[in-house]
Amino acid sequence: MHLPLPHLGLGTWGMGGKWERDPSNVDESVDAIRLGLSLGLRIIDVAELYGQGLAEEIVGKAITGRPREQVYIISKVWKEHLAYDDVLKATEGSLERLNTPYIDLYLVHWPNEKVPLSETMHAMEHVLDEGLVRAIGVSNFSPELIEEAQATLAHSKLVANEIEYNLSARTSKQEIIPYCHAHDIDVIAYRPLAKGAFADADNATLEEIAQRYGKTKNQIALNWLISQGTIPIPKSSNPAHIRENVGALGWSLLQEDIACLTA
Ligand SMILES: NC(=O)c1ccc[n+]([C@@H]2O[C@H](COP(=O)([O-])OP(=O)(O)OC[C@H]3O[C@@H](n4cnc5c(N)ncnc54)[C@H](OP(=O)(O)O)[C@@H]3O)[C@@H](O)[C@H]2O)c1
Repeated sequence: MHLPLPHLGLGTWGMGGKWERDPSNVDESVDAIRLGLSLGLRIIDVAELYGQGLAEEIVGKAITGRPREQVYIISKVWKEHLAYDDVLKATEGSLERLNTPYIDLYLVHWPNEKVPLSETMHAMEHVLDEGLVRAIGVSNFSPELIEEAQATLAHSKLVANEIEYNLSARTSKQEIIPYCHAHDIDVIAYRPLAKGAFADADNATLEEIAQRYGKTKNQIALNWLISQGTIPIPKSSNPAHIRENVGALGWSLLQEDIACLTA
């Protein structure tokens, strides 16, 4: 794995707004990220898109005063910014908003067939060579696209693919995960809690397993993702939810229960 332990991160979609900038939750978002970090999490997932950059500013505020090496920041260049110069501009913008000299992992957020992949990848390799980002990867890429992207890189490797993956969103991902693992590409699981749907889900298997382990259904769902060799990045601004999510760490489901959930 390229990403640091523990393999659970903090999502940020909605912090500072979604598609638009919304400053109404800035303070609670900063506090939420700080709480996650204080509970031992290190990975923070953000993107220039989120809240039109405000989520990155929130992350920048949340990490202020912390040794930089204690956090692992993932950010992403939006699909409308994949031309060479636009990638460079987007990287600079993210660094400024994050108030940091480097991004740990920089991802192409979504593919965009209107821009040649080789052009985007050369720009990604340039910001890597310049030390502005420490590693590069992709998001929402199929195995074929990853292969095409990797083939255009001169001397670097894609280390991660971030995809939607959770107990109820699996079928379309069945070939992506084995492909990534076979090629030493970390799989970051976004929407790991299906946007909070598991807490109230009427699912007898999940319910029974949760009861037997004395864990919540969300904790089972996150622990299962970790058992699949993926790195879940749940978003929460609610301190009780953040503590609950962190409680998915430090124990493991038995093989038979993993198999049951997987089936
Ligand atoms: N690469 C991509 O294209 C892409 C796409 C989507 C998302 N992402 C990333 O992945 C992250 C996670 O995905 P997501 O935010 O869409 O979905 P998610 O993490 O599955 O769900 C987030 C929702 O679940 C709630 N929640 C969190 N923990 C909970 C708990 N223990 N109990 C009950 N509800 C809980 C949150 O509300 P509260 O805040 O009230 O707890 C929030 O409404 C995003 O934040 C973003 O960083 C990436």
